[in-house]
Amino acid sequence: MCGIFGYLGKKDNAMEVVVKGLQKLEYRGYDSWGVTSDLDGELFVEKKVGKVSEVKLEDFRDKKTSIAMGHTRWATHGGVTDANAHPHFDTERKIAVVHNGIIENFQELKEELGKENFVSDTDTEVIAHLIAKYRKDNPFKEAVLKAVKKLKGRFAIVVLNVGENYLIAARRGSPLIVGIGDGEYFLASDIPAFLEYTQDVNYLDDNEMVVVDGGVEFLNLETGEPIKKRLVNIDWQAESAEKGEYDHFMLKEIMEQKETILRAINQDEDDIMHVAQKIRDSRGCFLSGCGTAGKMCMAGEYFFSMIAHRHVNYAPSSEFKIYHHFLRPESLLVVISQSGETADVLEAMNVARSKGAKVLSLVNVEGSTIARQSDFSLHIKAGPEKAVASTKASTSQMALLLLIATAMIGELQEGRRILVDVASKINDILNPRFLTYIKSVAEKIKDHENAYIIGKAENYPMALEAAIKIQEVSYVHAQGFAAGELKHGPIALVTEGTPCISLVANDEVRQDVINNTIELKARGAYIIGISPENDDVFDEWIKVPDVGVASPLVNIIPIQLLAYYIAVLRGLDPDMPRNLAKSVTVK
Ligand code: M6R
Repeated sequence: MCGIFGYLGKKDNAMEVVVKGLQKLEYRGYDSWGVTSDLDGELFVEKKVGKVSEVKLEDFRDKKTSIAMGHTRWATHGGVTDANAHPHFDTERKIAVVHNGIIENFQELKEELGKENFVSDTDTEVIAHLIAKYRKDNPFKEAVLKAVKKLKGRFAIVVLNVGENYLIAARRGSPLIVGIGDGEYFLASDIPAFLEYTQDVNYLDDNEMVVVDGGVEFLNLETGEPIKKRLVNIDWQAESAEKGEYDHFMLKEIMEQKETILRAINQDEDDIMHVAQKIRDSRGCFLSGCGTAGKMCMAGEYFFSMIAHRHVNYAPSSEFKIYHHFLRPESLLVVISQSGETADVLEAMNVARSKGAKVLSLVNVEGSTIARQSDFSLHIKAGPEKAVASTKASTSQMALLLLIATAMIGELQEGRRILVDVASKINDILNPRFLTYIKSVAEKIKDHENAYIIGKAENYPMALEAAIKIQEVSYVHAQGFAAGELKHGPIALVTEGTPCISLVANDEVRQDVINNTIELKARGAYIIGISPENDDVFDEWIKVPDVGVASPLVNIIPIQLLAYYIAVLRGLDPDMPRNLAKSVTVK
């Protein structure tokens, strides 16, 4: 939520660099944007409602400066207005702040600082006023240190003070990464923002601050003491974070599933065995994540049960707190997150740790907070995922869960074989003919306001995930159900022509799902069957390969495409759905 970017270095077009960086962070928030710099001792500011992707870079090219910072916003406090766009300033407009997170005590601080001096409705503005207050009697660095000590809540901030040629950033709870280039430094919410300039990074941890001038100095926020950080080299290629030949990141990332499953399962055998052993040894194992990652945890619950005959409990991270009574030092929490920064997941981890339980994670962003705060972390290696709707990360998460389940019963090589087969079959289905067919199905259902999806056993979580995909990018009211639950209520929603998607695998519950599909059809539903085999009940048959227990990995792919095409055909931008942001770093 919200992207922040700061630059200081040898380039004299810092504002252009910052705007370009913000364009790469736009997936984190896109209701308004802003950029600021010290131009010959004067604060230059441009901030407004709208998308930073629509800004022309050349408009900033002639503004010669080597220091700048900016922000792309996902509104939390205060409506979407020019005044509420970041950066925010102190009364004299000398100190500028960009912020990601929520300052919980902003109202109290605003009263203290004189609320008549404020020009926005944001929580962020208090930070600038607070720093200005302390700056009167302190050097800039101490003023920032003193100010952040007064803040409650979560933040990643970058601060610029006119006349002082350095940037200061601090973090508690929201991500901030320092890119170290050749004579230049980048401060950003996520790595793709500066990947074209450097792959060397320092991750700022909670309660740390960094002062960027001719070098970088890391400090503890509480004590002000210097700290040493490890430089990490990131093996992502800059192009992997670009759209390339595709109109949207969502489609590009769906298509990347031709390769991502193989990358996900290319893991050190010892690491997989270690995780499998930890799950086996635990007394009470929980799987937890949010949104799509949560649905993948649910799929994991089925894989562990069906393959390893081991019961694990899935709980959405935002609900995990209530399970604290069941946690003890022998318990294990396995969390799944694409971004590795989701606030609800971090909270679940804190709950588990407070009871002495261990935490394992499956993340896509290496070095992310969740990865660093876990006792052990596996990297799913899907590469940068920029579209708000998670696609390739989710199938990689499932692949790894299935692999772990097989490792738990000493069948790791068989698990690999199954997944190599899945990868090759996904490669086959993602062909132009398949895409054209899915688009034609999307055309038929795009004007309906409701759609229902059913699945059973390991495909029940996929029905829930399908609903998220369709809801978030196409704004169609979609709901997923366990196929057998329909007759207990939801079937009342079905009327003539209602699109209903039935996820049918060649498994022991196949006939049950077909029977439930027939019940839908009898109420007039328009049936889209996703299945290796056709059936008379289907009005549309989307043929998927038969991959046995791994069926969720292939069944979800046509749904991702369907959601994508419905959005595009409705004239929507699937990469930037309304009200959403890629990484939810607030609770
Ligand atoms: O980065 P995470 O995997 O922790 O994110 C979790 C959810 O916010 C995320 O999966 C969300 O539901 C996606 N928009 C779904 O496509």
